[in-house]
Amino acid sequence: MAILVTGGAGFIGSHTCVELLQSGEEVVIFDSFANSKPRAVELIEELSGKKVRLYHADLLDANEVERAFAENAIESVIHFAGLKAVGESVQKPLLYYHNNLTGTFHLIDAMQRHGVKRIVFSSSATVYGMPKEVPMREDFPTGQPENPYGRTKLMIEQILTDIQRADPTWSVVLLRYFNPIGAHKSGKIGEDPNGIPNNLMPYICQVAAGRLDHLNVFGNDYPTHDGTGVRDYIHVVDLARGHVKAIAKARSFQGTEIYNLGTGIGYSVLDVVHAFERASGVKIPYQIAPRRAGDIAECFADPAKAKRELGWTAQYGLDEMCADAWNFIQKNPNGL
Ligand code: UD1
Repeated sequence: MAILVTGGAGFIGSHTCVELLQSGEEVVIFDSFANSKPRAVELIEELSGKKVRLYHADLLDANEVERAFAENAIESVIHFAGLKAVGESVQKPLLYYHNNLTGTFHLIDAMQRHGVKRIVFSSSATVYGMPKEVPMREDFPTGQPENPYGRTKLMIEQILTDIQRADPTWSVVLLRYFNPIGAHKSGKIGEDPNGIPNNLMPYICQVAAGRLDHLNVFGNDYPTHDGTGVRDYIHVVDLARGHVKAIAKARSFQGTEIYNLGTGIGYSVLDVVHAFERASGVKIPYQIAPRRAGDIAECFADPAKAKRELGWTAQYGLDEMCADAWNFIQKNPNGL
């Protein structure tokens, strides 16, 4: 029996596949390589010492989705695949709605045809919208995500919740990620975005590597300890291990459960810059720039529910996240 991992070659997907394989699971990867590379799949096999079956295909291609289920004994799905560039989603909303939602419909259709009723979904803290207070708990009402990307995450959460309500024998685990950064300890896999990065850590890495000139710090007038935005950064390997626990949970219950995956600690943009400088020994030049539209001042998790019910807590701190991100960039100056 295997776990189908959509988007398994991506940043979080690849680290999750390594952890799943190392814990003895069989893995089938379904990935279009829209924002990842086939090399990541070879590296997953190298790091785990196990083989995976790969479907190089898009979830928009319903026939290929069907084929992946028909050719393998799939027992659970972890659904990462989706477009995730916030700015692009504002420019091209239909692309995001079509890709992320239609892809998910094809996946659920095939699951229903093949009697697969367990799914772990890669959601985001973005579904909380503008939080009234921090730390954020799973029972907080979801808000209005600021952009189409975030809205697709919330919509898919709602769709899966409805599917489970209609057929109570489904097990749905919605994982709300905070800000995953870092890389595998080996430095072989890590975050490898196409083009100029949107997110903080990959941007800092490219400045450190000399590919970008300086970091723009989006706002220093937020009500935070140094005026810059505060986020809950989480090591991608910790996040990956959360998925192994989420699969165990999905096998043990029927219903829908939501878990925050974060450390519970908030760091500002400048905290991250300084931690990165300490870890790498490289100075990161930065300039204060205007606030980025849609950004919130502070966002960090209350991770108590994941600890209580999944037996999961993050192990790594910010220094290790920075050291591991830097190690990956040094070993892969031109990406994977
Ligand atoms: C972003 C997305 C969020 C998504 C998440 C995961 C936005 C508004 N939100 O979260 O929906 O789920 O990524 O990919 O894009 N920063 C700078 N300079 C930079 C880049 C970022 O100062 O060049 C600051 C931001 O203002 C923020 C912090 O760094 O305070 C983290 O930003 P980022 O890494 O983009 O993550 P989020 O915005 O939290």
